[in-house]
Amino acid sequence: MQPVQAPYPLTRLRRLRRTPALRALTQETVLTAGDLIWPVFLCDGQNQRQPVVSMPGVERLSLDLVVAAAAEARDLGIPAICLFPYTDPKAKTAGCEEAWNPENLTNRAIRAIKAEVPDIAVMTDVALDPYNAHGHDGLVVDGIILNDETVEALVRMALAQAEAGADILGPSDMMDGRIGAMRAALEAAGHKDVAILSYAAKYASAFYGPFRDAVGASGALKGDKKTYQMNPANRDEALRLVARDLAEGADMVMVKPGMPYLDICARVKETFGAPTFAYQVSGEYAMIRAAAQNGWIDGEKAMLESLMAFKRAGCDGILTYFAPEVARRLRQG
Ligand code: PBG
Repeated sequence: MQPVQAPYPLTRLRRLRRTPALRALTQETVLTAGDLIWPVFLCDGQNQRQPVVSMPGVERLSLDLVVAAAAEARDLGIPAICLFPYTDPKAKTAGCEEAWNPENLTNRAIRAIKAEVPDIAVMTDVALDPYNAHGHDGLVVDGIILNDETVEALVRMALAQAEAGADILGPSDMMDGRIGAMRAALEAAGHKDVAILSYAAKYASAFYGPFRDAVGASGALKGDKKTYQMNPANRDEALRLVARDLAEGADMVMVKPGMPYLDICARVKETFGAPTFAYQVSGEYAMIRAAAQNGWIDGEKAMLESLMAFKRAGCDGILTYFAPEVARRLRQG
């Protein structure tokens, strides 16, 4: 639909861009701290901060510090924090049993945060890559990533996280049938109010590189993830995945990576009208930071512009490593 528009000079679109007041009045999209989910990396120990070299400004935090970080995020108006563990190589096994250990790093962190900062929503990652030596999101036999056996393992993992008190589960594994299996298991176990934010349209992307450093999986990954993550060339397939995951019981859906996939974000939101999130992934974060460190772009402006773009595309919220920095910046006005 084309808006009715009189010809120039009756219509001068620059009129409404003339002053900050007129620009504020006619701004179509807003970005607030309430739109943000903050992904954080966990490590063992006490009072530990381990910088992630390929993600300047990001650190792995021990549980005492993650609780403090959650409290700070809550005070900044950030509604949710998402946990990613750095797993001790000794705990990695072919069967990925550590994934559903009630005492694993993620489950201890969930309990610690919910005990001290109950009003922040805690989200988890449901996938097996932190728990095996090959870095794949599923169980592997003879080089094949098994689907149905992986789903069973993921269900155990999801139940352990729900038991620990997670508010939102984030299955990022891209196996078929996992959302339905998790939803049924959650209902049966009395966890009917645990939400699922499905990584529904997750692409096999080069932009995850720094994340794999952060969780200690980068050297490990054998091959690639193309038999389960999506082909970056595909668009209709994203809609089929989102439709399926919603039908299987997902409450919210995600597109990942973010900025190179804004067309997918817009189409998903327009098609389904469901709560839609984008993940501004580690490589997107690293690019903005690196260019800013070199003085090639204004890092703060690029951060805000990139996040506003997700809102404009129709996203309800964004997972971003910039979350606390953006929230602080927005608070300053
Ligand atoms: C793994 C997982 C990945 C990310 C989130 N969960 C990496 C992958 O799929 O290899 C990437 C996040 C980022 O790059 O910031 N289940």
